[in-house]
Amino acid sequence: MSRPDPRTTSWRDHADRPVVVPSPPTAEQPPFYLDIGAWQGRLYDRNAFTAGTADEVDALVERTGLVPGQRVLDVGCGTGRHLRELRRRGMDAVGIDVSPDLVRVATERLREDEEADRPRADWEVVVGDARHLAATLRRADLAGRFDVAWSLCHGGFGTDPEGEGDVLAGLATAVRPGGHVVVTAFHTLFAARHLVDGDAFDPQRLVHHQRSEVRGPDGEDRDFDLWTVTHTARDLAHLATQVDLEVVSIDGAEPGTYDRIGIGLDDPELLAVLRRPPTTASGAGPVDDAVSVDAGSSSAPAVPGRSGSAPG
Ligand SMILES: C[S@@+](CC[C@H](N)C(=O)[O-])C[C@H]1O[C@@H](n2cnc3c(N)ncnc32)[C@H](O)[C@@H]1O
Repeated sequence: MSRPDPRTTSWRDHADRPVVVPSPPTAEQPPFYLDIGAWQGRLYDRNAFTAGTADEVDALVERTGLVPGQRVLDVGCGTGRHLRELRRRGMDAVGIDVSPDLVRVATERLREDEEADRPRADWEVVVGDARHLAATLRRADLAGRFDVAWSLCHGGFGTDPEGEGDVLAGLATAVRPGGHVVVTAFHTLFAARHLVDGDAFDPQRLVHHQRSEVRGPDGEDRDFDLWTVTHTARDLAHLATQVDLEVVSIDGAEPGTYDRIGIGLDDPELLAVLRRPPTTASGAGPVDDAVSVDAGSSSAPAVPGRSGSAPG
């Protein structure tokens, strides 16, 4: 069988041969996860990688110094598994996700939790695209209002090769001076070393492609294309400095284990803890642009599809 011409495809298969795979959606197209969210809905939480959620939040609380009463933004929150753990620990939390179906599930689950063990903190889950986060926050008068902003497990960060800088800029816009931004990312070294039959990797853009079978609520399986942007520690640090965030640490990680120190070649993910520089003695923050709030903006959140909020 003839192989594709490497001059017309930059994708390589698991045996390092040129291969043709569909291109990832562009920045102008809807994120590919929309269809998966609609298909999977509540079943998302059956994914094996969700098992260590409480341990993940424990490690993130430790790394960022979060205390009850502080406020967290979870970008690409999915069904709200991290939001639920935050609420249990008394942290106020806002989740944003591009999938209305997953936002609906997150809202239902948080309400169920609240009925089972009384309100412990404020929460809200809204529909929105991580790539337009900075503008959304400014319109909603929420820029600089969070102690911590994170995007975990490819919650918008890692899903669009062209949009990574925009997502990180949005996270930086969310936090107050001295606040932390946390992202997890698929580790380039692991992704390229562990391709299996059917996977593909683009060494030019460092994007991983996989065709994955996903089970729907009626037990039927459907195939989806998944593109994941991979990162090295060095390019994460570079992206961070471009949006005026300091690097606190970048370590290897995997689902359920966010407390590792150092990076192994076989760590499947990287966990970057970044920080917005604290306000200077003069009171002027070094990243003024990130907290500017549009003059005259309405106090009503301008986030389309607002789906639920805790009683105030
Ligand atoms: C693999 S799930 C991770 C969800 C959650 N962070 C977790 O750890 O379980 C990826 C999530 O990111 C959301 N997502 C993908 N692209 C997005 C975007 N551009 N803006 C906002 N959310 C996005 C998806 O809808 C999905 O809920």
